[in-house]
Amino acid sequence: MYIRAAEQNAHDNYKLLIGSIIPRPIAFVTSIDERGIVNAAPFSFFNIVNDEPLMIMFSCVRKSGGEMKHTASNILGNGEFVVHIVDEDNIAAINHTSINAPEGISELTLAGLTPVPGQMVKVPRVAECKIAMECRLTRHVELEHCDMIIGEVLGFYVEDELIHNGRIDAAKLKPVSRLAGATYAAIGRTFDMDRPQY
Ligand SMILES: Cc1cc2nc3c(=O)[nH]c(=O)nc-3n(C[C@H](O)[C@H](O)[C@H](O)COP(=O)(O)O)c2cc1C
Repeated sequence: MYIRAAEQNAHDNYKLLIGSIIPRPIAFVTSIDERGIVNAAPFSFFNIVNDEPLMIMFSCVRKSGGEMKHTASNILGNGEFVVHIVDEDNIAAINHTSINAPEGISELTLAGLTPVPGQMVKVPRVAECKIAMECRLTRHVELEHCDMIIGEVLGFYVEDELIHNGRIDAAKLKPVSRLAGATYAAIGRTFDMDRPQY
């Protein structure tokens, strides 16, 4: 079949997109509001966008009334955030942070997660995450009803046992990705393949 996006409603298009672009890595993002209250939420519209300088992006879909999510408004307010990698040990608690908490209530407290002071940013990282990247906002791109946040990674927190010869051991990290709806995936069978030489 061939499906013209313009001939379907937005929800059916959305289902095709999130069911096709899988698995999606999940950024667990902490940010702080003007009172210093820590906000935390997961985002699977997330990836690397540059390697020098190190830049990553994630996208916050606006609420139905067009209002920005707290994560986006906090980052636009003070320019800092921390992105954590979601894994099999912390996914349940992190899923809990996606609750639409009212302003002023920290999702970290609701989910029983522990803030740890940042090194290069005022935003804390979360102790239960094995990898955290402290980021500074470099660009905010407004995309119809999304706020794409692009940030430079200033520093990495990585649990010691995850690193071997400077590389992250995926088997120890046990990252979790998102498929469509409420379905998640752990790393399954992996295989290596050499790149062709010309
Ligand atoms: C695994 C997972 C992935 C999500 N990915 C996104 C995403 O990419 N973009 C988005 O806007 N919301 C996403 N959400 C929903 C947000 O986490 C949710 O709206 C959250 O309440 C936003 O919090 P905030 O208003 O404090 O920023 C995701 C939720 C889950 C559980």
